[in-house]
Amino acid sequence: MVVPPTPENLEKAAQILRSGGLVAFPTETVYGLGANALDAEAVARIFEAKQRPSFDPLIVHVASREMLGQVACEVSSQAEALIERFWPGPLTLVLPKAAAVPGIVTSGLPTVAVRMPGHPVALELLRRAGVPVAAPSANPFGYLSPTRAEHVARMLEDRVDLILDGGLTTHGVESTIVMLGEKPTVLRYGAIPVEELEPVVGPLELSVGESLKPLVPGQLPQHYAPRTPIHIARPEEVPTRGRKKLGYLAFQDVPRGFGVVKVLSPTGDLREAAAHLFEALHQLDMLGLEAIYAEPVPEEGLGRAIMDRLRRAATR
Ligand code: TXA
Ligand code: MG
Repeated sequence: MVVPPTPENLEKAAQILRSGGLVAFPTETVYGLGANALDAEAVARIFEAKQRPSFDPLIVHVASREMLGQVACEVSSQAEALIERFWPGPLTLVLPKAAAVPGIVTSGLPTVAVRMPGHPVALELLRRAGVPVAAPSANPFGYLSPTRAEHVARMLEDRVDLILDGGLTTHGVESTIVMLGEKPTVLRYGAIPVEELEPVVGPLELSVGESLKPLVPGQLPQHYAPRTPIHIARPEEVPTRGRKKLGYLAFQDVPRGFGVVKVLSPTGDLREAAAHLFEALHQLDMLGLEAIYAEPVPEEGLGRAIMDRLRRAATR
């Protein structure tokens, strides 16, 4: 449903976000497909709606410093300088993440990408919702980014609870992404040119290959290569002897004999399973187990994303 951003519709959209639904909304860059960033299952719906073949970390949108504090646990002086100059606006900062942000938002990374959008509709929606909102561009995986509500409607109408129409977006390209730290690095060219950033933070490294994927898992292997070896196997494929020293990541049912079992979704709901995957793997990895066995899930819908991630974890 495409609606104009009247106060009533903004209130309705905010309510949808608070209750775990999806709202497409205009930002100054592209339309975003938003969900409550602190609700893992709501965020799983984003991946499902976009039919992404794998989980990518998402950008979290905030409307205030207080909301920023909910998602980032540390804001360096460099970050402060950029925030002061460019927020609200199309600049995304990669900062150390707060514990409240679920792993599905950051793909298990210890950092979170955050921005305060400059579009009045986006800001008003965030303020009314009162929660930080994770939002990638509102297009199915592999398609052009949407710069009009009609683009979103054409591609995703039946997968979104509400589409707020703010007309054509200002920037039409996504935000510029900067990772702060010892060597501040541009991870994605975007709506704010590097030339405008450097006077504020000094020289920037560039790491803007065609994809961030090699950078993200390559630089931070602790998620993809947990200390505990992981194998994909059905319970009946795991020998019964020695199971006490093993963890099992089950999809639906609890198998017998394992030291620890985490069940992703007792009802067999792939969305729920995706929402809990990263947390469950982190928890299992902290227990000093000999190995973790993970049950394959059906390769449909979010199941493909789950299996993609499990296979990556298992090949290390
Ligand atoms: O303009 C925009 O930024 C739009 C609008 C809707 O705000 N949003 C957007 O979000 O482009 P998304 O989720 O598609 O952008 C995700 C990008 C990915 O390339 C991802 O790798 C990078 O942000 N990213 C997210 N979290 C990261 C992290 N913790 N470290 C490094 N890169 C991160
Ligand atoms: Mg995108």
